[in-house]
Amino acid sequence: MNSLEEGLYSYGMSDFYPFHMPGHKRQGFCGLEELPNEIKNLFQQIFRMDITEIPGFDNLHHPEGVIKALMEEMREFYQTRETYLLVNGSTAGILASLSACTDIGDAIAVARNCHKSVLNAAFLRNLDVHYILPEIIEEYGIHGGVSPAKVDILLRNNPHIKAVLIVSPTYEGVVSDVGEIGRIVHSYNIPLIVDEAHGAHFSYRTDDSVFPRSALQYGADIVIQSLHKTLPSMTQTALLHVNGKGVKKEAIEQYLGIYQTSSPSYILMASVSMCFHFMKNEGRRKMREYEKNIIALRNRLVQLKLIEILGKNLVGKYGIFDYDIGKLVFIPERMNCTGKWLMERLREDYHLEMEMSAVSYVVGMTSVMDRTDGYERLLHGLQRLENSSCNEKKADTLKAHRRSFENKIPLQKITSTEAFSKRGVYKEFRECLAHISKETLYVYPPGQAFLVAGEVIDRNILEQIAWYQENGFEISGLTKAGRIYVVDQ
Ligand SMILES: Cc1ncc(COP(=O)(O)O)c(C=O)c1O
Repeated sequence: MNSLEEGLYSYGMSDFYPFHMPGHKRQGFCGLEELPNEIKNLFQQIFRMDITEIPGFDNLHHPEGVIKALMEEMREFYQTRETYLLVNGSTAGILASLSACTDIGDAIAVARNCHKSVLNAAFLRNLDVHYILPEIIEEYGIHGGVSPAKVDILLRNNPHIKAVLIVSPTYEGVVSDVGEIGRIVHSYNIPLIVDEAHGAHFSYRTDDSVFPRSALQYGADIVIQSLHKTLPSMTQTALLHVNGKGVKKEAIEQYLGIYQTSSPSYILMASVSMCFHFMKNEGRRKMREYEKNIIALRNRLVQLKLIEILGKNLVGKYGIFDYDIGKLVFIPERMNCTGKWLMERLREDYHLEMEMSAVSYVVGMTSVMDRTDGYERLLHGLQRLENSSCNEKKADTLKAHRRSFENKIPLQKITSTEAFSKRGVYKEFRECLAHISKETLYVYPPGQAFLVAGEVIDRNILEQIAWYQENGFEISGLTKAGRIYVVDQ
């Protein structure tokens, strides 16, 4: 078998009868009878190739054949010590990395704008989390980069910290100075883990590209990339790269065995294989074409009068070392409306589905697979909306909201694990001042917590909850009736 995808295709066409899982027996499901033939055929083809660990197809958890060959080829291409294929997203990679680099109860340092999987790893391992506050792009209320100096101070004051994790690039495309942060972290003999979930495409940039370099090139010890976010691969697929000599790969493998399903989808794994081979062979050409098109689009987008767009001009300010021009972050403040409004209009009026909206901005994701007609439609939609009236009159509220996000971290009284085991009580959120939360609160996406379990609820938090509620944002961790589960004091 040359590759997983070829193997799956031939097997799908063969006369092998499955007395094994999955229960659909490679035939699709009954409901298919109702569907139009075109859709029915499409599903049939996929179900035909959906197999389990049968001879010749290797085993993700003990790879010796075609999956091992794929991982070795990736290791060689990415120039890593090990590259692991993930079918449970970057989420599994983050859980495994933090678990492998710590003992239960250890201290870690993480950027506060981390993904919830980081907080979940801390919860599972009872970790004592020290947060690093990224800089803030004040005009927009968006996180900037992580300052190397802040990392240094934190590590100097807390020599017991066992690992550092930062997010770079962020959802909004902000890249931190990973090289300098790595140099500092290594001077304390601990590993740097970079959540590069949003930067898998960086590994395929050309040498003269304006796309940032991958954290792998800056000496990070572990780098986690979601293939599905910015490359042509199916949802859930990701890679975990191990570079640092100090990282115990046996521990990483043990934890991947725990955090990844015991029934990994061969369809997903074949999608990784296809994505990797496509990018390895065509990636540089595709990235060059992508870069040319996205720059051309951006040159037109900056001419919008009322909608601003984040770009490379931020580099050198707010701790921003580099910027991923593939992220389109639109700020419609001069239109006097929220990001949520703009996203809804783009969807409903122009059938343009954006990635996410936050209070003051909207994010659109792009990739090598974009088409220029999509870019034209986006430009057209934004031009038209700019000239329409939004009638939201949100400017003052937005400003107030940004002020309330002064990038403060609530006081942490106990770890999230300890908070979980305490007796709890639900309270209306306005009555929660000075209580320790048993819940972690965030708005998804982007899923960055503004209150973590174990932290004390202060006035700033109450203001944020009230603002989110008034403006129709759903807060994870808050009940429908507006209550928070807090430690019963
Ligand atoms: C910064 C960041 N890290 C990690 C993840 C988790 O990635 P995945 O969905 O591949 O598990 C996300 C998901 O949105 C993310 O935004």
